[in-house]
Amino acid sequence: MLDSTALFSVHAVSAEYVRPLRRTILLDNQTDSSRFRGDDEPTTLHVAIYRSERIIAVATVCREALPGSQDDTAWRLRGVAVEEHARGYGFGRTLMKACFDHARRHGGRLAWCTARETARGFYEALGFASSSPPFKLPSRGDLLFYEMHYVLPGGPISDVE
Ligand SMILES: CC(C)(COP(=O)(O)OP(=O)(O)OC[C@H]1O[C@@H](n2cnc3c(N)ncnc32)[C@H](O)[C@@H]1OP(=O)(O)O)[C@@H](O)C(=O)NCCC(=O)NCCS
Repeated sequence: MLDSTALFSVHAVSAEYVRPLRRTILLDNQTDSSRFRGDDEPTTLHVAIYRSERIIAVATVCREALPGSQDDTAWRLRGVAVEEHARGYGFGRTLMKACFDHARRHGGRLAWCTARETARGFYEALGFASSSPPFKLPSRGDLLFYEMHYVLPGGPISDVE
């Protein structure tokens, strides 16, 4: 249960700030795998939600074509993680909105991700779909993943990041 009087804020941060939650929630605490390709690209956005001084949710979006494609209007979501006690309050949706707005501001037309099976419903709730069968990753043979896509909406976006 979250403290309803706590203050929450959303910030663009550098990669080092998102890695601790990535590591503990998504990567079984493996330090060496918490750096992702694209982390340090100038167009990449790392977004963090703070509860007072503490980061409780993180996500990253970087320009990356779909496997087998060269489309530079595709943006990949990575390292989407919300602390367990803070799930179900809309923080994941807030992170995704910040990522979508950033991608669109940089000419993005498509968002995609490699979603683990347990998060598939979250992405579907946001409008993502998958059209190919699930697969396993060499680094995570214990999990099933789905490549999921979302066509970014057109129209105006605010300048505030
Ligand atoms: C997946 C995760 C990021 C969702 O974050 P969250 O803050 O709980 O999500 P939200 O509260 O913003 O939920 C947004 C919508 O998705 C739905 N949703 C969230 N998690 C879901 C799930 N696991 N299965 C089905 N639907 C889900 C919510 O019901 C909500 O739908 P609604 O707006 O129609 O009511 C979070 O559960 C998490 O960090 N999980 C562990 C790490 C992980 O799996 N990350 C994704 C890696 S691919």
